[in-house]
Amino acid sequence: MKKYCIILSLSVFCFSCGGNETKSTDTTDSTKSTTSVMENPDYDKGLNLIAKSDCFTCHKLRDASTGPAYGAVAAKYENTEANRSMLADKIIAGGQGVWGQIPMAAHPNLPKEDAIAMVKYIMLLKEEKK
Ligand code: HEC
Repeated sequence: MKKYCIILSLSVFCFSCGGNETKSTDTTDSTKSTTSVMENPDYDKGLNLIAKSDCFTCHKLRDASTGPAYGAVAAKYENTEANRSMLADKIIAGGQGVWGQIPMAAHPNLPKEDAIAMVKYIMLLKEEKK
């Protein structure tokens, strides 16, 4: 009931400040720039794949966890095709040494195009500034 009230008051708030059509999700807050990022089709696709996989057990969006924050990954690399391909290969093969000595788990059964879609989503987090 409390949760419902929060959601209701949030949507009233959004409505009152100009019909912001932000869907409320657990992982993002509804700032203006987030809204435009979330309208990118790569956002939903990559986020869904990441949510289905085990990524969030080691990665958070904004804070370092076992692995680096996705926002930090996005800030580190230029969003080029070569970098997306390199990062996708790393998600599939695993590895360590870029962010520290904790290894990243390998995902050998992940299709490369899914890994690329995940990286595209991660790269979108760079623009999501507060
Ligand atoms: C067992 C914990 C773990 C899981 C599960 C995991 N990661 Fe990671 N990830 C890490 C660690 C640790 C690093 C840092 C590796 C390094 O320092 O080179 C990392 C690094 C990364 C990087 C940056 C790589 C680089 O070279 O800069 C990306 C992108 C990434 N992970 C995406 C993912 C995605 C997508 C998934 C889900 C398919 C995932 N991770 C699942 C622990 C994990």
